[in-house]
Amino acid sequence: MKIVSIVGARPEFIQAWPVSQALERRHEEILVHTGQHYDHMMSETFFEELGIQEPAYNLGVGSGTHARQTAEILVKLETVLLSEKPDVVIIRGDTNSTLAGALAASKLMIPIVHIEAGERSYNRNMPEEINRIVSDCVATLHFCASETAVKRLAKEGITESVYWVGDVMLDAFLLMRDRARAQSNVLDRLRLHPGEYALVTIHRAGNTENPDNIKSLVEIMNRVEDRIVFPVHPRTATALDHLQTKLDDHITVIRPVGYFDMIILEENAKLIATDSGGVQREAYFSKVPCLTLRDETEWVETVEAGWNKIVGTDPEKVLAVWKELVPPSDYPRIFGNGSAAYKIVEILDDWRG
Ligand code: UD1
Ligand code: UDP
Repeated sequence: MKIVSIVGARPEFIQAWPVSQALERRHEEILVHTGQHYDHMMSETFFEELGIQEPAYNLGVGSGTHARQTAEILVKLETVLLSEKPDVVIIRGDTNSTLAGALAASKLMIPIVHIEAGERSYNRNMPEEINRIVSDCVATLHFCASETAVKRLAKEGITESVYWVGDVMLDAFLLMRDRARAQSNVLDRLRLHPGEYALVTIHRAGNTENPDNIKSLVEIMNRVEDRIVFPVHPRTATALDHLQTKLDDHITVIRPVGYFDMIILEENAKLIATDSGGVQREAYFSKVPCLTLRDETEWVETVEAGWNKIVGTDPEKVLAVWKELVPPSDYPRIFGNGSAAYKIVEILDDWRG
């Protein structure tokens, strides 16, 4: 089968890798990088560390408004799809690259495979929510990371094409953890001791574009007694620059780190506070308690299991939960067993006949 596989933003490179590995043996995969993320530490570093094939195309769209970014990907992708004539297009998650891939392929009547289908926050102010709904609406096959996602799609009348395969991010995490442990020296570099720091990431538009929220998040970090490591997404760096407030010395502010360093920072943290979808799940994979700095999450199973608390951005509330968070003893297998990518390829083979 000839497959065009679309990636553009940081988590998509990680999600793509295990699937590419599984496809490699039996199918031709043409990797298209939209260029949505382009800084070395937001893009290239993942290709280097994971050994992902060089994209056959880089559309180089860069940053912009939602309309400009999505439209530019759409136009450039159409040209690629017309020339490559793939049997299938793979999209993943909920970014503007996902949405543009879904629209471009559906108008050309090319079957679409959506990996990480069925995620919902039920908050339509999130740009990602619109991207997910539209992508699931036009997708031909829906591969879900969790059983909750399957149920959500059923509520929307999408049942026939839906498969619970587990989370490809768990595949990547399990396959790369030993290499990360062998190769990353991030704890030494930052003089960190396992279990003696908290890891924080923030990048959601709802936090970075809302001055009250970003101010509250700075206040929370400044008031926390734990040492904090804070790898800063570029859009968060811009928001912090505009605020002109000072982060105290117990907060180690660093640029985005590569995947290996991130795995090590996650699995040795005493607590993770984040608004990232991927980092919430990786906290769970690492058996580290998580605070979600939003008012809702797609990853409700981690909350139900007691490992993740939705705390929003109100300093008093976040600080109270921060101090009291105790990880539960139960650890249900929510995201499968690390073989999602192989299941996806098997189902694709059956579907193709
Ligand atoms: C995007 C996704 C989000 C995902 C996140 C992963 C959408 C709507 N959002 O959010 O779902 O969780 O990626 O990280 O697709 N920038 C740089 N260098 C880069 C990339 C971005 O400086 O390499 C800056 C630019 O100022 C840009 C801003 O970050 O305007 C936001 O980037 P963008 O890709 O639009 O959204 P993300 O917040 O990264
Ligand atoms: N990540 C990383 N370095 C960082 C921050 C995140 O490698 O400095 C990885 C993280 O381990 C996870 C993915 O990026 O695999 C999550 O991406 P992000 O938080 O940007 O987006 P989301 O998952 O919310 O869409």
